[in-house]
Amino acid sequence: MQDNPLTDKAALITGGARRIGREIVRQLHEAGMRVMIHYRSSADDARALQRKLNAARPDSAALVQGDLMEAEASEHVMLETIHAFGRLDALINNASTFFATPVEEATEDQWVDLMGTNLKAPFFLSQAAASALRKNRGCIVNIADVYGLRPLKAHPIYCSAKAGLIMLTRSLARDLAPSVRVNAVAPGAILWPEDNADEVSAQRIIARTPLKRMGTPAEIAAAVLFLVRDATFSTGQILVVDGGRQVVP
Ligand SMILES: NC(=O)c1ccc[n+]([C@@H]2O[C@H](COP(=O)([O-])OP(=O)(O)OC[C@H]3O[C@@H](n4cnc5c(N)ncnc54)[C@H](OP(=O)(O)O)[C@@H]3O)[C@@H](O)[C@H]2O)c1
Repeated sequence: MQDNPLTDKAALITGGARRIGREIVRQLHEAGMRVMIHYRSSADDARALQRKLNAARPDSAALVQGDLMEAEASEHVMLETIHAFGRLDALINNASTFFATPVEEATEDQWVDLMGTNLKAPFFLSQAAASALRKNRGCIVNIADVYGLRPLKAHPIYCSAKAGLIMLTRSLARDLAPSVRVNAVAPGAILWPEDNADEVSAQRIIARTPLKRMGTPAEIAAAVLFLVRDATFSTGQILVVDGGRQVVP
């Protein structure tokens, strides 16, 4: 482990209790990092994951609860992380909400929610984390979406929020250089929303995907690990992980 550049370094993963966030937590931990698992409502999943990781390596996983829509949440989550580990080396902005907002029906509350979780929270978490990250020449990885690069029908607010997150990635790469690298992963279809499993749409997307399948959370986590550990001369980049969907019209 002595040659491992991640040994004992600390990562904060938002929305880390379940689904893609959980796999990011798992892979960064397996690669040697200590992990702060942020969650909002998935307390049982978060505790179960923490127990498992601490059983593998004592004191290597901690938990912080917070609704990122609330003022001061970013500050609180950061303070808890520094309190737990005394440092921060990687911030992974993964927490998100996703739902349709057809133009005629969208409400201001929906705007506030989608922009809040997907764009505002990553900015204020980055702001709260900046000085700790600067100290260790750390990095930020934002989890964007291919739908921040091209629109998904009936999701104009979500797509705009993720497009904003892509520009935020590029802007912060400039503003936090040279000490902090800022990159993003833009997943294609990975996991269907749990309340809306749509087999017909899934098959339609797969048909238009050159690699002819959905991606897996492990493939997104591997891209995050690459950006955290290996991409030492990359900043402001958007790593698209979509089975080649972008190259088909
Ligand atoms: N799933 C896909 O196929 C796909 C495709 C493209 C991009 N992505 C992106 O990849 C990331 C992970 O996707 P996913 O499907 O695993 O995400 P998800 O299940 O929709 O959400 C991840 C977590 O975000 C947290 N969250 C939501 N609102 C929050 C709030 N107000 N404050 C704090 N936490 C909040 C929730 O935590 P709790 O459960 O603790 O409440 C939730 O478990 C997201 O950024 C998503 O946009 C996913």
